[in-house]
Amino acid sequence: MRERLVIAIDGPAGAGKSTIAKKIAKILKLEYIDTGAMYRALTLKAIEEGVDPEDTEAILELIGSTSIYFKDNHIYLDGTRVDEEIRQNIVSRNVSKIAKIKEVREKMVELQRELAKSGSVIMDGRDIGTVVLPDANYKFFVTASVEERARRRYKELIESNQKVTYDQVLSQIKERDRIDSTREISPLQKSPDAYEIDTTNKTIEQCVDEIVDIIEGR
Ligand code: CDP
Repeated sequence: MRERLVIAIDGPAGAGKSTIAKKIAKILKLEYIDTGAMYRALTLKAIEEGVDPEDTEAILELIGSTSIYFKDNHIYLDGTRVDEEIRQNIVSRNVSKIAKIKEVREKMVELQRELAKSGSVIMDGRDIGTVVLPDANYKFFVTASVEERARRRYKELIESNQKVTYDQVLSQIKERDRIDSTREISPLQKSPDAYEIDTTNKTIEQCVDEIVDIIEGR
């Protein structure tokens, strides 16, 4: 039997990480863990409860009374499935403010390491190769130009009937990149031992093939 395989995928918003990670999980029979969904779930709860994402104390109080877990590839917030709700643009606009809080990250990283313990996994996020799973067997840093990332996200939002313009999405992505890359605790950065995959002019299939070839040593 193959030994446990641990793969880390990091990169900025809209680079294609989660689509790529899901496909690789299927091909290599790994469990897929979407860490962004966990930060999004907490953000959704803050919005629903009317808690200001920048009020650190209130967010910490909230996290103490919140349960976030995955079951059969779905994310649950306090026992309710919230796959669609966490993709709302209001959540995207606020998530980075919550994700930069030190205690929030400590709690999430602890949960993520626990999830990765049991078997072969592919985990995507911002700090997986650098902080959460520094001993991963393979690390990838997936990027694309900011305009291309905004185009992809705009298309997704329009397809799910959300009202936004391309320019709004572009400026929101730039703002999220800025917060994620400049925060004090585990900022988004490429781990020196990660393979960089630029998806700008490639199809998802090409990126998936490139990554699988590296893992299988072709
Ligand atoms: O799918 P998208 O690239 O838009 O974002 P995501 O992966 O769902 O992550 C949403 C946000 O959560 C990011 O912009 C980060 O602020 C935060 N995040 C993080 O700080 N660390 C992670 N490991 C994953 C997400």
